[in-house]
Amino acid sequence: MLLDTSLPFIWFGFRQRSIKECVFERLVCTISESCDCDFKPNIRGLEWDLYKNLYGQHLAQDIVSEEVTKFLQTENPDRPLVLSFHGASGTGKTMVSTMLGRHLYGTAMGSPYIHQFVPTLHFPIPDHNKQYRVELKRWLKGNLTSCARSIFIFDEMEKMPPGVIDIVAQFLGPSHSVFGTNYRKAIYIFISTIGEEVINRIALETRQAGREREEIQLVDLEDGISQAVYNSERSGFFHSKIIQEKLLTSFVPFFPLSRRHVERCAHRELCQRGECQRRDVVTAVGGAVAYIPEHGQHFSSTGCKSVPAKINFFL
Ligand SMILES: Nc1ncnc2c1ncn2[C@@H]1O[C@H](COP(=O)(O)OP(=O)(O)OP(=O)(O)O)[C@@H](O)[C@H]1O
Ligand SMILES: [Mg+2]
Repeated sequence: MLLDTSLPFIWFGFRQRSIKECVFERLVCTISESCDCDFKPNIRGLEWDLYKNLYGQHLAQDIVSEEVTKFLQTENPDRPLVLSFHGASGTGKTMVSTMLGRHLYGTAMGSPYIHQFVPTLHFPIPDHNKQYRVELKRWLKGNLTSCARSIFIFDEMEKMPPGVIDIVAQFLGPSHSVFGTNYRKAIYIFISTIGEEVINRIALETRQAGREREEIQLVDLEDGISQAVYNSERSGFFHSKIIQEKLLTSFVPFFPLSRRHVERCAHRELCQRGECQRRDVVTAVGGAVAYIPEHGQHFSSTGCKSVPAKINFFL
């Protein structure tokens, strides 16, 4: 659920439950460290969804499946799972974070244990950093006490005021517990477009060399992404301890999408509307999207984001 700054209760993750229930739950979680809330992971379902519905993203498919499986196989992980998604707009970053919620909690984003955080909404004033850090720490602590298996999604990291996110660093390391709470079972997802130049350049070079994008490996990209987020003042991770101390489990690169991916998105969308047979619309949408770079026009400038609007136009 979205962090609602207008209601003080929600800062502590107590929405929709009685005070008595919450106090009891906090007590159980603090003492036994076995607080799993209504966590019902379906790893096979996640793998299948990624494989079947996410196009052109072999690294995201592999990394998310492998890291989530590894993490959940460990009864008592020594640190939380921390993934940082990077890539151009419309390439599937938010879609994958939604899939994670759906297959780990059986609901898209409706669970009280999935917390989505949007800087423009929650931290809109740049010079309120100090206050935001205090509030964010209290909020994380409250939610982790309520549910050790909490999922925190920090979307639009490029709009996060610099320095605020570093308060999260103390929750990400391998130490035993923070403030008496077991925090090592939590999952953190950071999402941003920072690093897209690096990813897009490698994707373009690979394409121009006549090789398949599937040949690109994470090692070809991770240093470039790391430098981009660390050195960019608008990455949310500018000179951040989280990068310095290597507190991320993995970067997850999202590649720019080609026309064939856009057409697959269009076909899926049409099928959802009961218009599977409209191949003409698929081709029209593929042709109507803008492609970059100017010379070559290999990749959609908006990924699959503009597909529903184009379908509305052509259908
Ligand atoms: N790789 C993909 N495979 C299949 N569908 C995709 C893919 N990328 C995007 N889509 C479709 O486009 C929609 C928009 O994508 P999404 O919201 O995940 O983009 P994003 O990477 O989060 O972009 P932004 O940086 O602008 O937030 C998705 O809901 C999905 O329908
Ligand atoms: Mg998004």
